[in-house]
Amino acid sequence: MESKKNRLIEPEQVKMVIALLLVAIVATLLLGLTDMVTREPIAKAEKEALHKALGQVLPPHANDPLEEMITIKPVGTDTPKQFYPARDESGNITGMAWEVIAPDGYSGTIRILMGLLPDGSVHAIRITSHRETPGLGDGITKNHNWLNSFAGRTLDNVRWKVKKDGGEFDQFTGATITPRAVIKAVKQGLELFRNNRIALLSPEERPQPIKFRKTVPQPVWKRR
Ligand SMILES: Cc1cc2nc3c(=O)[nH]c(=O)nc-3n(C[C@H](O)[C@H](O)[C@H](O)COP(=O)(O)O)c2cc1C
Repeated sequence: MESKKNRLIEPEQVKMVIALLLVAIVATLLLGLTDMVTREPIAKAEKEALHKALGQVLPPHANDPLEEMITIKPVGTDTPKQFYPARDESGNITGMAWEVIAPDGYSGTIRILMGLLPDGSVHAIRITSHRETPGLGDGITKNHNWLNSFAGRTLDNVRWKVKKDGGEFDQFTGATITPRAVIKAVKQGLELFRNNRIALLSPEERPQPIKFRKTVPQPVWKRR
């Protein structure tokens, strides 16, 4: 009979390895199942949240901007990006929304949905996710006056910085990093639109022909 001393692996060790393997298999299966069950409701909730935010950053519209989503590869990148057009009853574009990301918030990434009007000015912005400090950086969601201060701003009619840096936007008491990051991202969003307006609004990219109303000023994206 093999002596206990000469055995390479003890039966107890084999049992332990099998038990650990079983636990790992069960845990993996449970994780997979949870993912399967929650994926669809999460996607649905995200879609609803985006829908709601689009309603807040776009002017009144008769279409479903989410359904009419336009995907382009912005100039200089290989990554597709989504834009959401607002239209009136006649199909005229009354606004355009898209998401921008500020990577340099105090506590990381800040996601922002911004809406533009045909005259090239911001209609509204909404913060869709952030991890900034309550009472400090989270003014970007709570301070409505500050959020509203973006309305009517174009690339050319405001200095895109906080007052502390020589610009025209308020910083918050004890919190400059967060508003600075948001202002920079929104400005970059306006530049992104300006650099891609032809691709965005060219007929092959559009779900419907765009007819601009004669009574409104010529939209910036139609000027060449
Ligand atoms: C615990 C803690 C949390 C902070 N959270 C934020 C924040 O969420 N956003 C922010 O802008 N600054 C935050 N600050 C303050 C910044 O460190 C910084 O002092 C402030 O933004 C002013 O930046 P400035 O010196 O560049 O103007 C926090 C500071 C501490 C100590």
